[in-house]
Amino acid sequence: MKHEVVEKNVGLMIVLMIVAISFGTLVELVPLILGKQVSQPIAGLKPLPALELEGRDIYVREGCNNCHSQMIRPLRAETERYGHYSVAGEFVYDHPFLWGSKRTGPDLARVGQRYSDDWHRAHMYNPRDVVPESNMPAYPWLFDNEINGERTGKKMAALRRVGVPYSDEDIAGAASAVEGKMEIDAVVAYLQQLGTLLQTRR
Ligand code: HEC
Repeated sequence: MKHEVVEKNVGLMIVLMIVAISFGTLVELVPLILGKQVSQPIAGLKPLPALELEGRDIYVREGCNNCHSQMIRPLRAETERYGHYSVAGEFVYDHPFLWGSKRTGPDLARVGQRYSDDWHRAHMYNPRDVVPESNMPAYPWLFDNEINGERTGKKMAALRRVGVPYSDEDIAGAASAVEGKMEIDAVVAYLQQLGTLLQTRR
């Protein structure tokens, strides 16, 4: 049996395993790297403005993504509850992605414009005030912390280096765009734009 030769020769087996796994990897990855649908932004997609960008960073800092995914799967139960399934072109400016998989709370990929700003503020201050059975933590300090816009422009410049098309004006105006804003303003602004480019329900 020819296969016995491979089974009894560890060196040869390792080499052949590397060849097999590399082949599988290439078959999976190359079409994705070359395919336009994963690298082309969907129509209307723009980099997050300064306030929304700061809101996204607070979202990451507070670990919202540990309980909330931002990825609607193309299954009926999901699209009926959350709206249009997520497409790759929505996320080309997202670094890092916040897709997640853990859903202690609902998916937020299309939460934008579903509630009023006032609802979000009340909910973030104390979720139990608007959803009595909620076990989401309260985030009252977002109402006390002012945004420090010193680094906002630098964040944009860093994102530009990885392909997010911020303009020089965006970067120059970043600090004044967030001046005097509180962290809660940034988080709500971020939430209110989530998924709004592709919405089928409501
Ligand atoms: C420990 C888990 C947990 C964390 C952390 C968490 N949430 Fe939630 N979230 C929930 C749960 C559970 C619900 C559903 C009950 C409710 O609406 O309060 C929820 C609901 C929401 C909703 C309403 C969604 C809808 O469609 O009704 C929003 C918006 C939201 N969370 C935003 C956030 C933000 C922003 C953060 C971070 C600052 C955060 N959450 C952190 C668990 C969490």
